[in-house]
Amino acid sequence: MAETQLHDFPSLFSLDGKVAVVTGGSRGLGLSAASALLQAGAAKVFISSRKASTCESACAALNSLPNLRPGAVAVPVPADCATLDGVKHLVSQVSAQTEHVDILLANAGATWGEQFDSHPDAAFAKVMDLNVRGVFNLVREFAPLLARRASVEDPSRVLITASTAGLGIGTIGKQGTYGYSASKAAVIHLGRNLAVELGPRGIAVNSICPGFFPSKMSNGLLEMAGGVERMGKANPMRRLGRPEDIAGVVVYLASRAGAHVNGAAIEIDGGAMWSRGQLDVKL
Ligand SMILES: NC(=O)c1ccc[n+]([C@@H]2O[C@H](COP(=O)([O-])OP(=O)(O)OC[C@H]3O[C@@H](n4cnc5c(N)ncnc54)[C@H](OP(=O)(O)O)[C@@H]3O)[C@@H](O)[C@H]2O)c1
Repeated sequence: MAETQLHDFPSLFSLDGKVAVVTGGSRGLGLSAASALLQAGAAKVFISSRKASTCESACAALNSLPNLRPGAVAVPVPADCATLDGVKHLVSQVSAQTEHVDILLANAGATWGEQFDSHPDAAFAKVMDLNVRGVFNLVREFAPLLARRASVEDPSRVLITASTAGLGIGTIGKQGTYGYSASKAAVIHLGRNLAVELGPRGIAVNSICPGFFPSKMSNGLLEMAGGVERMGKANPMRRLGRPEDIAGVVVYLASRAGAHVNGAAIEIDGGAMWSRGQLDVKL
């Protein structure tokens, strides 16, 4: 029966030979995602963040993974994605080393926590510049490289690291993340617009929405919220996010398995978003 004849099922989640760019790839979620892309078969993964030394050490760690495809390589490309000049610099560094890009993970992000009454204009602008404007600049400037090999059968992919803070309310009060939460809501909607704009060019665009994952960015807030253990226990799945949780969704969306997913925003939070305000009443 036709329904049982899945075309080449063993390669459905493979990224064999793909070329990827990961911004904010030097640590945290971006580094986990880069590791997943390489271990799923990518041939070349460009690792970007502002600091050259951390890009280099991330690449050294990735290049020493034991199970990479022969010749697979992580390449450091430092750049500041909050400015158009920085994005153009990144594109020029990448174009000097590849003629096309299959996967762009726009993951670099910034946050700011401060109460409403004194929440600084400059902090709001900084967060918007990297988390929204920077992502738009990145996708626009990389579009020609993403389109070069893209096709209906094998579309290129843009993945945007958004957040569940862009789907529900982020943090309010003393450590209010008003700009961050608004920026993530904005970038999710930007992703939907780009999905419809770029789909016909063979480029699918999706957002991933992590909940809490321990990282340099989230550790301070996690501590203030009661710590990893307490926050983990409060999650419906009784734990916080792990590197493999990001890895799985990124590989799915970047591979043939995710080829018809476009304009989606996928939560990776153990269902925490839906349990907010839940009444713990024993009936
Ligand atoms: N961890 C969580 O709980 C969580 C939850 C939801 C969403 N997220 C999102 O996940 C993404 C990654 O966060 P993370 O938790 O992995 O944070 P992280 O460990 O602090 O990593 C942030 C990365 O972005 C880079 N970066 C920061 N500013 C940059 C800029 N202007 N240009 C280029 N790169 C820049 C950093 O390197 P440099 O400092 O060297 O530039 C670093 O590589 C962010 O978009 C964040 O909003 C995280």
